[in-house]
Amino acid sequence: MKAFVVDKYKKHGPLRLADMHAPEIGANDVLVRIEATAINLLDSKVRDGEFKLFLPYRPPFILGHDLAGTVIRVGANVRQFKAGDEVYALPRDNRVGTFAEMIAVDAADLALKPTSLSMEEAASIPLVGLTAWQALVELKQSGKVRQIGVSNFSVAQMERIRPFAPIGSLQPPYSALRREIEGDILPYCQRHGIGVIVYSPLESGLLTGKMTRERIAALPANDWRRRHPDFQPPRLARNLELVEILRGIARRHGCSVSEVAIAWTLRHPAVTGAIVGARRPEQIEESAPAANLRLTETDLAEIDAWHARTAPA
Ligand SMILES: NC(=O)c1ccc[n+]([C@@H]2O[C@H](COP(=O)([O-])OP(=O)(O)OC[C@H]3O[C@@H](n4cnc5c(N)ncnc54)[C@H](OP(=O)(O)O)[C@@H]3O)[C@@H](O)[C@H]2O)c1
Repeated sequence: MKAFVVDKYKKHGPLRLADMHAPEIGANDVLVRIEATAINLLDSKVRDGEFKLFLPYRPPFILGHDLAGTVIRVGANVRQFKAGDEVYALPRDNRVGTFAEMIAVDAADLALKPTSLSMEEAASIPLVGLTAWQALVELKQSGKVRQIGVSNFSVAQMERIRPFAPIGSLQPPYSALRREIEGDILPYCQRHGIGVIVYSPLESGLLTGKMTRERIAALPANDWRRRHPDFQPPRLARNLELVEILRGIARRHGCSVSEVAIAWTLRHPAVTGAIVGARRPEQIEESAPAANLRLTETDLAEIDAWHARTAPA
């Protein structure tokens, strides 16, 4: 296979495009076809020989720490991955070498790539992401902070970092409109005692009952909502239908539409809290009582029925 190798340690030394043996896989390994990699300062320090005392790679060796790619084959003991899975990883020390067509990675170092990320985006994350988490873990161990958390993480990403330190909380998007995290993320957090502080419970104003077509058209030119598909046809009509359902529920409870939207997120047993945005004090006054609103089974069933009826095919 083709790979970029370091022939000898040298400051700013060039890498050579070489033909190397295809990697062999052990029982706990996964053979991955590399689709994207990333360049990190660590790569140049390894090439320059600055780390050779504690990372003694013997030249010629393949450089590169980050990868995203597709599983080709798995070792005899590997159950959690199969050929064809899209994955990303930071291979452990002494087993790096991602500037290549293929690599054998210990299955424990691998995570499924979130489908929302491209190969390139996924390859840019492992080393910097794990380094950031390491810094947070050290802050916690030294007693400077009590809890450390993450945001917008998939289950695979949480699985990857949990062995280093418990995750205190996750911050995901969640609203009566956007409930994807109910599938795997909320049950996972509940199972592992991870607090969930949801953001955008009002879908950035869409679920307040005040967002009309006219208001959207009058938003300032630099307001991202003017161009977001949720605020534009054809999705807008469906979203405003949900607002009408929330309005009916609000009428029954004698409260605001925002309160219903926020209380809906808080009713989930995995949800610890909701981050509600506001630009004016009156908006806070309208949202805050949501903490005391308890929605009924009938209310929840109405929202579920709307989802079942209008779910995109
Ligand atoms: N971790 C992350 O990746 C991430 C991502 C996004 C947000 N967040 C966090 O979550 C926070 C909240 O996000 P968000 O702003 O999207 O939350 P949101 O609660 O869904 O929307 C808040 C917006 O809705 C409108 N609004 C609120 N109350 C209203 C009322 N009574 N009547 C009419 N409009 C009302 C206001 O905007 P207008 O008045 O302009 O319409 C307000 O800024 C952010 O500040 C941030 O801290 C985190």
